[in-house]
Amino acid sequence: MKLKLREITEGETRLLVPETGELTKKSPVFFNPEMELSRDISVAIVKITEPETFCDLLSGSGARGIRIANETTAKVLANDINPMAYDLIKRNKELNSLDLEVTNLEGNLLLAGKRFDFIDIDPFGSPVHFIDSALRSVNKKGILAVTATDTAALCGTYPRACLRKYDALSLRTDYYNELGLRILMGYITRSAMRYEKGIKPLFSHCTRHYFRTYLQVLGGRSHAIKSLRNIAFIQHCFSCLEREFVTLDKLKSDCQCGADLHTAGPLWIGKFADSEFCRKLKGEIGQEYFGKSKEAVKLIDKIRLEQEVTKPYYNIHKVSKKMKTPSKPTNEIIEALQKRGFNAVRTHFSDLGLRTDADISEISDIISYDIK
Ligand SMILES: C[S@@+](CC[C@H](N)C(=O)[O-])C[C@H]1O[C@@H](n2cnc3c(N)ncnc32)[C@H](O)[C@@H]1O
Repeated sequence: MKLKLREITEGETRLLVPETGELTKKSPVFFNPEMELSRDISVAIVKITEPETFCDLLSGSGARGIRIANETTAKVLANDINPMAYDLIKRNKELNSLDLEVTNLEGNLLLAGKRFDFIDIDPFGSPVHFIDSALRSVNKKGILAVTATDTAALCGTYPRACLRKYDALSLRTDYYNELGLRILMGYITRSAMRYEKGIKPLFSHCTRHYFRTYLQVLGGRSHAIKSLRNIAFIQHCFSCLEREFVTLDKLKSDCQCGADLHTAGPLWIGKFADSEFCRKLKGEIGQEYFGKSKEAVKLIDKIRLEQEVTKPYYNIHKVSKKMKTPSKPTNEIIEALQKRGFNAVRTHFSDLGLRTDADISEISDIISYDIK
């Protein structure tokens, strides 16, 4: 089959990509223009972390790996199992006169014999198939960048799929996308701990249909033990909407309001980004040549601020609906909570989201009476 191509420019890189068509697993070669933000962030993160070697394991047209090779100092290997993708990556390599290795191998086979400072896993759907191999072949203090697009499984629409793939219970809550990201991060951390490794989240986000997390992998039992402290469960009450992170030995059956508690996890309960790293990332991605610079800066600012509170966000409309009270503007509720001495911020997960260390009774109280 002959592939119809067009040339585009992303960042400072020229790319031959398939002419727009259906974006499915069956596309002859996969390229999604909507992932430019994700690729911009990857390039900026590689610039900051300066890995010597970078593996674009599931490269598709080569967009990410070719950009990393062209716009950073990393030595890149770009791989795809699809022979047509392999040919296109080579054409993109020539178009930019680059020196990078291109391979046409099954991802796990490739990783079995190699080591890298930075491994990027950008699959169709779930990344679980590649996590163990990547954890074994990432170098000390190296970075794993992982995408997941199977949000229906992670966010509670298909709980049995989540149990099968991620060995975790999921629930359809008002903070469903945060729960999904935390289950994904929890899965990678639990896998790392099996190899006496721990993880440090540098940056994670949920954008449109996908999750993306950048984790530094730290070797040694002490790091594994430290990571274990961030693995627990969440207990959620669908009646009063309270939620709480709880360790396995402290799980309860009833909420303070008397209703049943529902449990999801195991999941990651710590910060999902590092504030200092967010500052550096913002500085890097502020450069004009990043096509999605403005969008990225807004996203990073929100993510940096929301690390103050790890408890999952509340959806203000859902809380108001439960109370049968008209909704109030999120900013007003945030200000009122801050006046009462609580931490309260917006979240990148939802425009209607409010992240706070206050419990549901405080929020309900403010929504009912206390604004002005
Ligand atoms: C979502 S696409 C990658 C998109 C690309 N990273 C980008 O930024 O445009 C997933 C790719 O993984 C490839 N793939 C799927 N299973 C694979 C495997 N087991 N080993 C290597 N490549 C695989 C597919 O051929 C497809 O090109």
